[in-house]
Amino acid sequence: MTVNGGQIGAEVPDRTLLVDFLRDVAGLTATNVGCDTSSCGACTVLVDGQSVKSCTQLAAQADGREVVTVEGLASGPGEMHPMQRAFHAGHALQCGFCTPGMVMAAVSLLAENPSPTEAEVRTALEGNLCRCTGYHNIVRAVLAAARDGAAAAPGEAAAPGEAAADLATSERRPG
Ligand code: FES
Ligand code: FES
Repeated sequence: MTVNGGQIGAEVPDRTLLVDFLRDVAGLTATNVGCDTSSCGACTVLVDGQSVKSCTQLAAQADGREVVTVEGLASGPGEMHPMQRAFHAGHALQCGFCTPGMVMAAVSLLAENPSPTEAEVRTALEGNLCRCTGYHNIVRAVLAAARDGAAAAPGEAAAPGEAAADLATSERRPG
């Protein structure tokens, strides 16, 4: 399969989950395993551009496909994708465990709907659980990223990010 733009191939047992392949074979450990039962969304990645809970797919199902993890979002080392920048600026994380999956689900949403309403953001993130933030800052960050044009494809250069910058200077709501 292609992972974050590079080819990776390996023989693994039939029952190997995609999330385990990414973490244990590809060495990409930012994708987390929270529940292992398709409930929490911490393992969300993109497969052929669609957000997928990678604990619900076999690695073999991604054979020949293009997978993007949160490590592959930014355009280069030291850079942040506009969605990552909005989460950072908007204090949209606390422990950070849910964040890789939350960011990938949000990127997938904006790829399909570049200007979502708040209600559409909340609906799109229903499958991603966060035990820390209370969700408000996450939703605000996704809306700011949308205003900044974060629908850019993974690996593309970041947009100026004015809305995310505004988040950083505005009053932050408690969770
Ligand atoms: S670990 Fe995949 S949904 Fe929770
Ligand atoms: S920031 Fe801790 S689970 Fe979301």
